[in-house]
Amino acid sequence: MCGIVGYIGPRPVTPILLDGLKKLEYRGYDSSGIALIENNRIEVYKRQGKLEVLREELNGREFYATAGIGHTRWATHGKPSDINAHPHTDCQGRFAVIHNGIIENYLPLKEWLISMGHGFRSETDTEVLPHLIEEFYEGDLVQTVLRVTRKIEGSYAMVVLALDEPGRLVAARQDSPLVVGLGDGENFLASDIPALLCHTRNTYILEDGEIAEITPDGVTVIDQYGRPVAKNVFHVKWEAAQAEKGGFDHFMLKEIYEQPRALKDTLSGRIDPDGARVVLSEIKMTPEQIRNIKKIFISACGTAYHAGLVGKYIIEKMARVPVEIDIASEFRYRDPLVDKDSLVIVVSQSGETADTLAALRESKRRGARVLAVTNVVDSSIAREADYILYTWAGPEIAVASTKAYTTQLMCMYLIGLYLADIRGTLPEADRREIIKELRKLSDKVKVILNNCSIIDQFVRDYAGSENAFFIGRGLDHTVAMEGALKLKEISYIHAEAYAAGELKHGTLALIIKGVPVIALATQQDLFEKMVSNIKEVKAREATVIALAMDGVREIEKVADHVLHIPRTHPLLAPVLTVVPLQLLAYRMAVARSCDVDQPRNLAKSVTVE
Ligand code: F6R
Repeated sequence: MCGIVGYIGPRPVTPILLDGLKKLEYRGYDSSGIALIENNRIEVYKRQGKLEVLREELNGREFYATAGIGHTRWATHGKPSDINAHPHTDCQGRFAVIHNGIIENYLPLKEWLISMGHGFRSETDTEVLPHLIEEFYEGDLVQTVLRVTRKIEGSYAMVVLALDEPGRLVAARQDSPLVVGLGDGENFLASDIPALLCHTRNTYILEDGEIAEITPDGVTVIDQYGRPVAKNVFHVKWEAAQAEKGGFDHFMLKEIYEQPRALKDTLSGRIDPDGARVVLSEIKMTPEQIRNIKKIFISACGTAYHAGLVGKYIIEKMARVPVEIDIASEFRYRDPLVDKDSLVIVVSQSGETADTLAALRESKRRGARVLAVTNVVDSSIAREADYILYTWAGPEIAVASTKAYTTQLMCMYLIGLYLADIRGTLPEADRREIIKELRKLSDKVKVILNNCSIIDQFVRDYAGSENAFFIGRGLDHTVAMEGALKLKEISYIHAEAYAAGELKHGTLALIIKGVPVIALATQQDLFEKMVSNIKEVKAREATVIALAMDGVREIEKVADHVLHIPRTHPLLAPVLTVVPLQLLAYRMAVARSCDVDQPRNLAKSVTVE
């Protein structure tokens, strides 16, 4: 997730680009850059680090350009560095491109372009774009960009500046946001509205497949077939702080709604074209080494630990290798039986959590290979692990983790399928079926996000509660733990998760009239058992909200409220069941006037023990 800005008009462009980028820094902040046409050539300035580093570099220089593009980066392909920062240019420096998203097929395109004589400087997927434009350019930038969009797969919001056509910027969008700001004798581009607000409130929101040509005097838009599109002006009414959150009241809610995109990105490029197998070139172990893994250890903290719990379940089920899981702060001190035949998986959104980093170091000291699942490129954990599987969630700003969790789950499925394929432990038909269902998850999350009104009613009735219980069996129990953590950390309601079969071994004593119980019942083979457990708490007059898959009607007879989630493979249910639980926690916290994005006593990244 990066921030992009563009401007064309009568004013000097540099301060406009830098101010716009400042407003977008929340979208990514590991490097930044601008491109403009000065002295009849494209000049690019880009630096690793926060925007201030670039600002200092530009300080004192005189610029006359009145058109240009700017970018603030959150690294995906290629670590944060001056060279990997955007804009990227072609061989002759005639085109400069900024891009947000992932070009899935960049590797074959890069190979082809190299065979055509193009030279690459960076490790990014983005750099194929200026070279493709250079390869296809025949004097019309709009037509060239249209042709390029037919060659590339993946998600992109891109803006192109061309030396031969200094009077226009050309932008294209697919699955990444891009907004045109309409001024008077000047026009703007940005990946998000905050960058535009001090200039204009009149915008065109570009849709997937659209290409926009922006000059100082006008904006024309065509669709993917080259046909003109008549755009309606969207007048922005949001205040600046709200615009930063994409119109949502809190970053947490924005991040919950970003999950369909984040899941899609995390899957992108990791399934072979035939849909038969997972391709994880990041795990540079030989098949022999993978077959020789005797044991897997997973270590993480908090929400990442909960993702690891799902990972244990999935990897054991698919790859038939024993998996142990520890909270990282326990693992490092318990003298674990890790050795050179072990694979240790550490999971961390930030890549900086002190205990998880210590678990990684302890594992390496004992001779194990370490695979990191993390969201932050070049974080400490990414730098020290042997192999890295990135979750492409984009920056997570709210303290309560949401999109990081679901993308960590996605990585667990990918690891499970990958190991199972090499170890020959899952029939191909099953693998194909799970991969098919994995691809549908993003759309199913969207369905849930649009159908959660039942939660509002529950929140109205129970916002005053001081306790809540989450119960489930198998995978549902692991999600119950995440649901309870979300609720307690942001709404301050005391929430506990229990394996439903454990209730009668003690906790049932706490179940009294009116206590809210959230019961997860998505696992077909455990369903009857869960129905019994729900009856158990109902007999003590608890109020039960149950989560079950679509079409499961039997549960309506026992629970007070039922929230149905779209049907999926039972192993994949956690990605869907957690979404209503995130929304429940969020709405409870709002109803109780809590500080959702920065709950008391908590920090986003725990870099001390
Ligand atoms: C809860 C939450 C924390 C983190 C934990 C680990 O919503 O965000 O429990 O999951 O502090 O952080 P990372 O994943 O950065 O290692």
